[in-house]
Amino acid sequence: MSQPSAKMIVTRENRIGDIDPRLYGSFVEHVGRAVYGGLYEPGHPEADACGFRNDVLALVRALQVPVIRYPGGNFVSGYRWEDGVGPLEQRPRRLDLAWRSVETNAIGVNEFVRWTSLANSQPMMAVNLGTRGLVDACNLLEYCNLPGGTQYADLRRSHGVSAPHGIKLWCLGNEMDGPWQVGHKTADEYGRLASETARAMRRVDDSVELVLCGSSFSNMPTFPEWESITLKHAYDEVNYISLHQYFTKQEGDSADFLAQTVELDRFIGTVVSACDYIKAVRRSPKTMYLSFDEWNVWYHSNGADDHFMRDNPWHEAPALLEERFTFEDALMVGGMLITLMRHANRVKVACLAQLINAIAPIMTKTGGGCYRQTTYYPFLHASLYGRGVSLQPTLISDKYDSRRYTDVSFVDGAAVLDEEERTLTLFVLNRNLEADMNFAVELRGFTAPPRLLSHTVLHHDDLTATNDLDREVVTPHLSDTATLTQNGLSTPLKRASWNVIRLEVSQKSI
Ligand code: AHR
Repeated sequence: MSQPSAKMIVTRENRIGDIDPRLYGSFVEHVGRAVYGGLYEPGHPEADACGFRNDVLALVRALQVPVIRYPGGNFVSGYRWEDGVGPLEQRPRRLDLAWRSVETNAIGVNEFVRWTSLANSQPMMAVNLGTRGLVDACNLLEYCNLPGGTQYADLRRSHGVSAPHGIKLWCLGNEMDGPWQVGHKTADEYGRLASETARAMRRVDDSVELVLCGSSFSNMPTFPEWESITLKHAYDEVNYISLHQYFTKQEGDSADFLAQTVELDRFIGTVVSACDYIKAVRRSPKTMYLSFDEWNVWYHSNGADDHFMRDNPWHEAPALLEERFTFEDALMVGGMLITLMRHANRVKVACLAQLINAIAPIMTKTGGGCYRQTTYYPFLHASLYGRGVSLQPTLISDKYDSRRYTDVSFVDGAAVLDEEERTLTLFVLNRNLEADMNFAVELRGFTAPPRLLSHTVLHHDDLTATNDLDREVVTPHLSDTATLTQNGLSTPLKRASWNVIRLEVSQKSI
């Protein structure tokens, strides 16, 4: 039997759209050890004067994350932002109903904004539309973004922060369609509340960009009716509608697990259709963009977390949501990134959920070191090299059928052209778990042969391999298997592998 093969044709003029750098955002929630024992651990040998761990910051900075969503997540739906500002000793200890934990409020908005600036990033703030509403959202916005002379802006100044934070991107609540959400609402209830809150927030600061809550995942029973109803209420008031999606592996089926990017692709397509339907209904000239502000693989820790929260509530920073990501999870994260890049014309913001300890690429040991999980690497590669113009590749690949999906291409890919740097980066996933694939790339519209800069591969023989402190076994390596041709290249693709192929395209060709 001949070796399975795939071909990718990349045409310079076939542009999907510019990639917004915020496609490589992430998320920090007050959950588990994401904040306390994660980014913040006063007394740790690596902690600075504010208690922020420098070793963690170094790993975050390397990812070049442009925006970080905060403070939730489910947490935000019961959050009182005032608890987290002002003198530390006066901040209340509260019950966090979302995660059945105790919130000390040692970190609040001012500390988080400071931390994001140390991380070379920007906050993406969420307001509580679960237990609170329009007034509190406007007060928080005033506290954050207005210069002074009014109650909440002056309150910030009295807390020693004279310059406004100028936070641009705001989420109107979190997963309001989910029955698990504190203050869960129907689509009509939420649509109206979001629309009125948005209108009021714009009166406080008309430079903000607002995100409406879409569905919590693609198989929510209310999807896509939720989008249709909430957008009918709020289309004119918001800039983005959100999508969330976490993938699980079912019945130990790796091939089916990795095929789920098909589902992701459909989900985005349906949300785009819902947006464009409402655009047409409203005869609106405005295009709605998508904020995929929670996405990841998440299933390893669920059972233990549910038991823990049920049987052991009210701990400070309990070890919740601590996914130990496997090598195949990294492949799935790579596949999801490819899908997001290929929707760059509509998905403008996306947040890998989350960043530290909770469903995270970065893990810490309390009092000890920190390390990169397997999923750190595809995200790193996409963030560093996936900036520019997303080109629409034509993919011709041998296919497979899995339990739930048919005609799944073994090889999936995205192509990103950086016109300034004159580089073309191909992100290529080989989800053939049995065999290496022959892979050919044909470039069209580039007038001179390319030069190979690097071919980076993430592969491990064991799909279940994980990284640990001082034992990072799943790490990328450089490959020398690619051969350049007159108008492209060819290379074998290792079975079960994530590949990043970087080419210099000549001056003449752009
Ligand atoms: O990221 C963990 C949780 O997943 C978030 O709090 C919630 O928004 C989602 O259900």
